[in-house]
Amino acid sequence: MEIQEFSLERIQSLYENLVELNLSDSGVHPYKLKELLTAEQLQQLADLELGYGWTNGSTQLRQSIANLYPGKCADNVIVTNGSAEANFLMAMSLLKEGDELIVIVPNYMQIAGWARAMGVRVHEVALVEEQGWLPDLDKLQEVVSDKTKILTICHPNNPTGSTLPLEQIQQLADFAKQYDIYIHADEVYKGAEFDGNELPSFADVYDKTIITSGLSKAMAMPGLRIGWLVGLPDDIYLAWQRKDYTSITTGAVSEYVANIVLEPDFRKKVLQRSKDYLMANLALLQEWAAQNSDWISFVPPKAGGMAFLKYRLPINSTELAHEFRNELSVLILPGDVYGLDGYFRVGIGAPTDHLQEGLSRISHYVRTHHLDKR
Ligand SMILES: Cc1ncc(COP(=O)(O)O)c(C=O)c1O
Repeated sequence: MEIQEFSLERIQSLYENLVELNLSDSGVHPYKLKELLTAEQLQQLADLELGYGWTNGSTQLRQSIANLYPGKCADNVIVTNGSAEANFLMAMSLLKEGDELIVIVPNYMQIAGWARAMGVRVHEVALVEEQGWLPDLDKLQEVVSDKTKILTICHPNNPTGSTLPLEQIQQLADFAKQYDIYIHADEVYKGAEFDGNELPSFADVYDKTIITSGLSKAMAMPGLRIGWLVGLPDDIYLAWQRKDYTSITTGAVSEYVANIVLEPDFRKKVLQRSKDYLMANLALLQEWAAQNSDWISFVPPKAGGMAFLKYRLPINSTELAHEFRNELSVLILPGDVYGLDGYFRVGIGAPTDHLQEGLSRISHYVRTHHLDKR
């Protein structure tokens, strides 16, 4: 099997722990365990036996997750190691060689990369910057065929932070129903909508949906490695069969914490922290972008922990990212990893002082090394 390098993850893995200012993350700055647990809970954790759990997740945790999706129960849920494993199990369960997949791009790029390796034909339908990074849904008709198995979307979107209006969510559901295809929605940024109105899940509007989500992004706990799939019980069962072959279970410590933070009032508090963080940093980024409008522009994100900036400099985005890393010890993610040169992604979930200092280094550097030479 030949597989394309997953450059988005590889760049972060190689460099994010080596730079002074990491602005490449897409989630909100992570919690410490002691910020989440009471003294009594920390003590319970110290007494926790580190055994195996259930390979699909404990019934209690699956039920807590199901409660986030009206009408769903524990049988609709499998707990995974991060949403990355959820995506992987989804693809392994529902796709096979010769199938076709529609991918709304740009997105996290994991599903398309893996699907191609499996011999699936991938059709891309673009989000259009001039339309606020929304898709032109008429394009779907041009790529659908009787081999199309799944339409996959990352919503809210990585990297643009765009969210679909309710009519478009419904139109996508109607389209999928018309052709009897699955919708796979990676909703790991749901809950971090800046206006405070949590979007509906695709699972709320269409039965033949499979949802990826988890605690890494809007919930700011990537180190727990807790993700999940929510879908029809038969499809969840297929994913469970495959999970026995991949990672067996999630970690006992992580499941213990997940049960606590998914309690509704707790989750609300966590999401409020995320929104406060992101709104403050977005304002800072917008001010910086206004001061640098001679080379930067962007469509403000509506949700999630990142913004996708367009730059007007005669340099490739990967080269620019390496320059910032080597010269400034600042890591951003080049648009190239999304197949979109001329852009870079900045994490707005970073600590505010890091974001401020990183942006300041970038603009100072660009003025002296690129703009003054134009
Ligand atoms: C849309 C999306 N899905 C899944 C993942 C994987 O996240 P994790 O496995 O940490 O939950 C990411 C990570 O950036 C992402 O952006």
